[in-house]
Amino acid sequence: MCGIFGYVGSRRDAGTLVVEGLKNLEYRGYDSWGMAYKPNGSIVVRKDIGKISDVRSEDFGAPCSLAIAHTRWATHGGVTQCNAHPHLSCDGKIAVVHNGIVENYGPLRDALKTKGHTFLSQTDTEIIPHLIEEEMKNTADFAAAVRGAVRKLDGRFAVVAMHTDSQSLVAARNGSPLIIGAIKGATQGYCVASDIPAFLEHTRTVQYLDDGEMAVSDGRGILFSDIATGAERTKREIEITWSPEQARKGDFEHYMLKEIMEQKESVARAVNQNEEQILTLAKAIQEARGTFLVGCGTAGKACMAADYFFSVVAGKHVNYTPASEFKLYHRFLKPESLVIVVSQSGETADVLEAMRVAKSKGSKVLAVVNVEGSTIHRDADYTLLINAGPERAVASTKALTGQLAVLLLIAYALAGKLRDGRTVLLETAAEINDMLNPRYVERLKKLAEKLKDCRDLFIIGKGWNYPMALESAIKIQEVSYVHAEGFAGGELKHGPIALIEQGTPCIVLAGEDEVQQDILNNATELKARGAFIIGVAPRKHEVFDAWIKVPDAAAAQPIVNIIPIQVLSYFLAVSRGKNPDMPRNLAKSVTVK
Ligand code: G6P
Repeated sequence: MCGIFGYVGSRRDAGTLVVEGLKNLEYRGYDSWGMAYKPNGSIVVRKDIGKISDVRSEDFGAPCSLAIAHTRWATHGGVTQCNAHPHLSCDGKIAVVHNGIVENYGPLRDALKTKGHTFLSQTDTEIIPHLIEEEMKNTADFAAAVRGAVRKLDGRFAVVAMHTDSQSLVAARNGSPLIIGAIKGATQGYCVASDIPAFLEHTRTVQYLDDGEMAVSDGRGILFSDIATGAERTKREIEITWSPEQARKGDFEHYMLKEIMEQKESVARAVNQNEEQILTLAKAIQEARGTFLVGCGTAGKACMAADYFFSVVAGKHVNYTPASEFKLYHRFLKPESLVIVVSQSGETADVLEAMRVAKSKGSKVLAVVNVEGSTIHRDADYTLLINAGPERAVASTKALTGQLAVLLLIAYALAGKLRDGRTVLLETAAEINDMLNPRYVERLKKLAEKLKDCRDLFIIGKGWNYPMALESAIKIQEVSYVHAEGFAGGELKHGPIALIEQGTPCIVLAGEDEVQQDILNNATELKARGAFIIGVAPRKHEVFDAWIKVPDAAAAQPIVNIIPIQVLSYFLAVSRGKNPDMPRNLAKSVTVK
């Protein structure tokens, strides 16, 4: 939520560079944007409502070597030009961009007002440049003033600040991500950003800022220190494996479609795990007293499906809880408990909170993540990467199937059948490659055309297809804004069936499994009330009015069943004139609770 990008170095096009970089972070928020640079020695701010992708980066080409930029997902204060970042101090000499929430901004603002500071926006962020300005009454050292200011903040923040009279970029972190990219060679410099894709075009050498740390750079070197004590910190440089090409849209019209198509390879990459490591983790799960699966949104649905994987494949009882609800389960946590957290970004605030609760009880945490080096990846006791590559579209697709593949592999390992699990999943990966052919995609596009004006859409599933029914609804809602709801097939009779009218489209997710007949019976009940039944299944059944064929994938059925729904959601959005990469009100990485 909110994307930050700053640059300091020997390049003289810092303004253009940060605006370009910010475009790679737009998935983090896109209600407004802003930037600050110093073309003539004093700070110039440009900001507006709307999308950074609509802004011409060449317009910021005036020579300068220090700039900061921000793309916003509003928390405090509406979507207005005034509330967009950066925010300035009273004297206009300090500019700040911020991601997170300052919880004590009310009293701080009141105190600053009594000292004569005036505020132009409704944001919590605006107090930060004014706090720095106050600190600068006691020191000429800009970095020291930032340190003094951020020490006063309660809550989660990533802050990047610049000053008219300083050539340094100052960054501070507590709870919200900030990563440093070090550019070597002739055009030496440093980038600081909320996520790696921002600077992937310039460097793959990164240093992660941890909570309670700050970084100061003049472009020639960088100094890390502890916010509380001021003590210097040494940081390892890490070479990341993602390439700039992976993060580009290429010939695809939208990232969402690109990422759906990438599942031809990404599922196989997820299965490519170190055998010994998987077996060690399976042992840890086996020995744990109480295993919990925790995630948010789509990742939460992967956890819910894994609940079935563990039960059906390995006969192991685990507990799925949405991360935002996990806090209340602390009573069940012991040092022998294991909490498996699943997250694409590795930065979701509610998941981090769940980890904190687990750690406070001495429980161990296993993280299944996509972004290497993310906070969740770094803070967990055990980790597994799903190897999906950068996921840019807000609607998660390839990360979900990667998560499902890794969790299913663990379930097989737990059952002592790791080899079988690998075989099932690699066969599934090959089937996905066949399935996502142009003719198949075209058929789904036509179906989307047919459904695009429907008022409601229902999706049902049973067993491990039940979480996929919930996920299908999320996908359809978030990109097309069609009212969609997912249910366990057996629950319909207890209320939702009252919503079915003549022609109401209902998608039925089925597999060749022990609950197949049950879900077909549920479909028949819907059809008897006039529903138009769209079956997603390996075989055509009589009850289906339309059939989307999927491979018979045994325990990997949820993986193949969700893929056509992802494609359908994409085309539903496009046919309704919506941009699936930027759904309204949403952001990809939810770094506030
Ligand atoms: C947001 C995204 C979802 C994602 C969820 C959890 O809501 O839009 O696609 O599933 O956050 O994110 P995570 O990065 O933890 O998987």
